[in-house]
Amino acid sequence: MEIVIVPDAAAGGELIAAAIADLLVRKPDALLGVATGSSPLPIYQALIAKVANQALDVSRARICQLDEYVGLPQGHPESYRAVVLREVVRPLGLTETSFMGPDGSAEDIAAACADYDRALAAAGGVDLQLLGIGTDGHIGFNEPCSSLASRTRIKTLTQQTRVDNARFFDSLDEVPHHVITQGIGTILEARHLVLLATGEAKAEAVAQTVEGPVAGIVPASALQLHPHATVVVDEAAASKLKLADYFRATYAAKPHWQGI
Ligand code: GLP
Repeated sequence: MEIVIVPDAAAGGELIAAAIADLLVRKPDALLGVATGSSPLPIYQALIAKVANQALDVSRARICQLDEYVGLPQGHPESYRAVVLREVVRPLGLTETSFMGPDGSAEDIAAACADYDRALAAAGGVDLQLLGIGTDGHIGFNEPCSSLASRTRIKTLTQQTRVDNARFFDSLDEVPHHVITQGIGTILEARHLVLLATGEAKAEAVAQTVEGPVAGIVPASALQLHPHATVVVDEAAASKLKLADYFRATYAAKPHWQGI
């Protein structure tokens, strides 16, 4: 696992957007897995700026969703489908035809989950999956004690995650209890995992993810099992890393051609 400590969230966004741009040069129709929440927004802003400046052609890129609420009516502005379309897909000049996600309003949720895993495989697999991290160490909506081999499935949110996400809704009562999330096993199939965490509130989860044991209680620790996982953190999110100086020195000495 590579840890990159950046001065701030904007620098993290620029670094990851540059890696996505490199990928799209190598593979113009790459499948990009996107995450919701506040953390990845600087990545999307940097990508959108590159497209606006004509420094990047994303016209053949494909975008897929990591997770979704269950039971919100179709088109609800806080469904993750609506959020990703609004914040990523349309600002990049793409349309829904370039986009795929699980159907959180399906009658048969189990079938929708299995369909989504099949669709990801049929699309050739995710080339680069962006991840945020919950304060409890979750990735996607894989809450603590998720199976490290899990596939896309329904999960129940912890109260902590519902409280964390209540800011997007009018009240806590409106935050769904159930979600569909790519499983940890599904996420680990992406060719490159890139997690961005910023702010002090994430410092403990980041330390456990990077320097703790691989354990279902900290779902993001499963990144240690992936051959190409990059964790990008700002100084605040890095503040509990024992090996921070080592990570800084390693990245400073890294040959430029390697990228992240
Ligand atoms: C939600 C999403 C996660 C995201 C997390 C953290 O739970 N399902 O994918 O990583 O929020 O969000 P934020 O980046 O806003 O802290």
